Amino acid sequence: MEVNQQNDWVARSLKSVWHPCTQMQHHETVPLIPVSHGRGVWLYDHQGNRYLDAISSWWVNLFGHANPRINAALREQLDMLEHAMLAGFTHEPVIQLSERLAALTQHNLGHAFYASDGASAVEIALKMSFHAWRNMGQGDKQEFVCLKGSYHGETIGALAVTDVALFKDAYGPLLRATQTVMSPDARQADEGETAADVARRAAADVERMFTERAGKIAAIIIEPLVQCATGMAMHDPLYLKLVRELCDKHGVHLILDEIAVGCGRTGTFFACEQAGIWPDFLCLSKGISGGYLPLSIVLSRDEIYQAFYDADVTRGFLHSHSYTGNPLACRAALATLDIFAEDHVLEANKARSRKLTEALAPLASHENTENFRNRGMIWAFDAVGAAPGFSRRFFTEGTKQELLLRPIGNTVYLMPPYILSDEEIDGLAARTLSVFEKTRVG
Ligand SMILES: Cc1ncc(COP(=O)(O)O)c(C=O)c1O
Repeated sequence: MEVNQQNDWVARSLKSVWHPCTQMQHHETVPLIPVSHGRGVWLYDHQGNRYLDAISSWWVNLFGHANPRINAALREQLDMLEHAMLAGFTHEPVIQLSERLAALTQHNLGHAFYASDGASAVEIALKMSFHAWRNMGQGDKQEFVCLKGSYHGETIGALAVTDVALFKDAYGPLLRATQTVMSPDARQADEGETAADVARRAAADVERMFTERAGKIAAIIIEPLVQCATGMAMHDPLYLKLVRELCDKHGVHLILDEIAVGCGRTGTFFACEQAGIWPDFLCLSKGISGGYLPLSIVLSRDEIYQAFYDADVTRGFLHSHSYTGNPLACRAALATLDIFAEDHVLEANKARSRKLTEALAPLASHENTENFRNRGMIWAFDAVGAAPGFSRRFFTEGTKQELLLRPIGNTVYLMPPYILSDEEIDGLAARTLSVFEKTRVG
C-alpha cells in the first residue's frame, strides 16, 4: 500500500480515535503505527514493515497472531452461536471452559464467574469477598489490602487497590482508601539478604497489618510472582506461602490477580502453583483467550460460592455484564487450552526460556544495566544512568529495528508469545541490545 494511504490511516485515527493510556499530544512526535495484519509473532503495517510483537500486544497473545487453530475454532463457533445471555441460559463453551479451569486448579477453585476485561474481574473479586463476609455475618470486613507498586486495572474499584501514582493520583478523590503493605520485590534485598529474606520481611509487614486490622479487612490482593505494570518486580514464591498462612490465621481472603501472570507466563499454568497454594479468588484474563477476545474469569472456592447460595435473592451475587461468558471468547479459550495440552507448551517453554536467557547474556552483563531478571516467559532489566525520555526513545528506535517493546520507565522487559523460533529468539535478543545501546543516552 502507498505511503500516502498509510499516512491517511494515521491522520484519520488521530482525529477520531482516543487511544488508551496515551497523552494524545505525544503523537505529535511519537509515530502511531497502523496495523494491517498479523502473522505469528509479527505485526505488519500497510507498507509491509513488520514488528516483532515482543510484549504480546499488552501481554495477551500466547500463540501468535492469526493462529490457524484458534481461527478454525472460532469459525466453527460462529456458525453455531455468537452470543446468548448467561442469566437463565447456558452453553457448551462456557460449561466446558469452567470444567477445564476447575480441573486445572485440581478442583480447589470450582466455580467460574465471567466478565470481559481484567479490571472487571478484579471488581468482581473485591465485591464477592466483601459480600461473602457480609453473608457470613461479618459485615465489618470492608477494607482491602494491596501491595506497594501493585496494578490491578483502571476502573474505580481496581484503581483503589492499585499503587501506581501515574494512573491513580488524578482520581484520588474518587477512590476508597486502601491499606498498602510492603512489596516483596527482590530488588530491595539488603547486602547479604536473599529474595526469600525480602519475602519474609514483606510477609511480616502483612502480619503487622492483619494484627492491627484483621477484623476490618476483607481481602488482600496480590499479583503473584511478578508485579508487572510497576516494572516487572519479581519475588520469591515463599511470600505467597507465608501470606496464605497469614490469611488463614487472621480470617482474610486471598485474591490472586493472575491476569498478567496466569496461563503459563511464569512457567507454571498458574503462578501460585510455584508456591504450592491456592487463593480464595483467582482472577484470569489476557492470555486465556489466546489474545483474541475480551474475556475474564474469577475462580473461587466452594465455601465462597456456598456463602451466596440461599433462597434470599439479595444474598446472591447479582453482578452482571452483557457479554458475560460470551461463547466466542470461551471457544477461543478452549482452543488455547487445547494448544497447551497438545503441544506440551509448559515443557517447550522451559527450553525457549533458557535459550532467550542465554541470548540476552550481553544485556545481563552490560555495564549500563542492573537487576537482570527472568521468570518463565518474562525477562526484564533496568537501565542505569539512562537519559530522560529513555522509554519513548527506546520504543521509537525499536520500531525502526522491527521490534515492538515498550519499556516501563527505565525497565526494559520482554514478554513474547510462546511460539518464538530459535531464529526469532536470536533476532529479538540482538535487536534489544542494539536498540538499548542506541537509546541509552539521549
Ligand atoms: C495484574 C493486572 N491486573 C489487572 C489488569 C487490568 O486488565 P484490563 O486491562 O484487561 O482491564 C492488568 C492489565 O495490565 C494487569 O496486569
